[in-house]
Amino acid sequence: SELKQLIQQLPKAELHLHIEGTLEPELMWRLAKKHDIALPFSSVEAIQEAYQFNNLQSFLDLYYQGADVLRDEDDFFELMWAYLCQCQQQNIVHTEIMFDPQTHTERGIGYNVFMPGFAKAIEKAKAELGVSVYLILSFLRHLSEDSAIQTLQEAKPFYSMITAVGLDSSELGNPPSKFTRAFAQAASQGFKLVAHAGEEGPPEYVWEAINLLKVDRIDHGVRSIEDPILMAYLKEHQVPLTVCPLSNLKLCVVDDISQHNIVDLLNDGLRVMVNSDDPSYFGGYLNENFFALVDKLSLNKEDAVKLISNSFSASFLPDKQKQIWL
Ligand code: HPA
Ligand code: ZN
Repeated sequence: SELKQLIQQLPKAELHLHIEGTLEPELMWRLAKKHDIALPFSSVEAIQEAYQFNNLQSFLDLYYQGADVLRDEDDFFELMWAYLCQCQQQNIVHTEIMFDPQTHTERGIGYNVFMPGFAKAIEKAKAELGVSVYLILSFLRHLSEDSAIQTLQEAKPFYSMITAVGLDSSELGNPPSKFTRAFAQAASQGFKLVAHAGEEGPPEYVWEAINLLKVDRIDHGVRSIEDPILMAYLKEHQVPLTVCPLSNLKLCVVDDISQHNIVDLLNDGLRVMVNSDDPSYFGGYLNENFFALVDKLSLNKEDAVKLISNSFSASFLPDKQKQIWL
């Protein structure tokens, strides 16, 4: 359609993307062969077919298992480079990418392996693809706060590569309040702050992320709609919510895209935008997330343009650079 063509062609920013969630089955298969790792799948197609989830945890189990094929610097380069090439294809001109250090350090793969791999791909993308990239170091919330603090300290040699600190993994039972000290340390080092909240967890977790962690953005946040006082706060302060429609569908946060509340949130005056979260696992990159909204939610042109302008205004780009795109 004309609208889909417009969406494809407009320059966009992506603010909620896990690099480990861009690992395509083909690359997983090739890296498993390269490192002689036995996968519990008989073919690339079998990997694809296994991507059916009931909830966040059933996805996370496969996502952490998949990440185990990432072993050396070149693997991390390939992973990052493949996503940044997708960005060019999709007219994503700026992306703020989450990475989970603990997914790798817990397996004995250190910052000295993954950060140089990421850096090479990011430098190459800047030069050859014209894509700008910020990195968000995300803590795994199912691990302890001490582990998060250690993870932040170990990143010190690479602070110049990192813009923000985030919080992901199993939400229920791991409220933002568990990470108050870790986030205070990150803030004192000058990092921007984000946290997943209100994906599976209640509005109370969104309040905690705002009041205790002092985040600049909420990742997901779709359950905020259950709390009118929270909705009023998010609107007044224009706290960005990085919404991920296909993710919410695949993890059964919503039963159908036609039930998704992103357009309601937008029309209520909240600063929401579209993101892909873990595109290899959820069946689409950024444009496919928009296309699902066009097909199933009758997204109109005005709303599409507003969602895209929100992707820039909610980014961590300096104001001067935002102006170029707004
Ligand atoms: N939620 C929590 N943790 C995650 C996600 C998510 O959507 N994606 C990758 N890790
Ligand atoms: Zn996420």
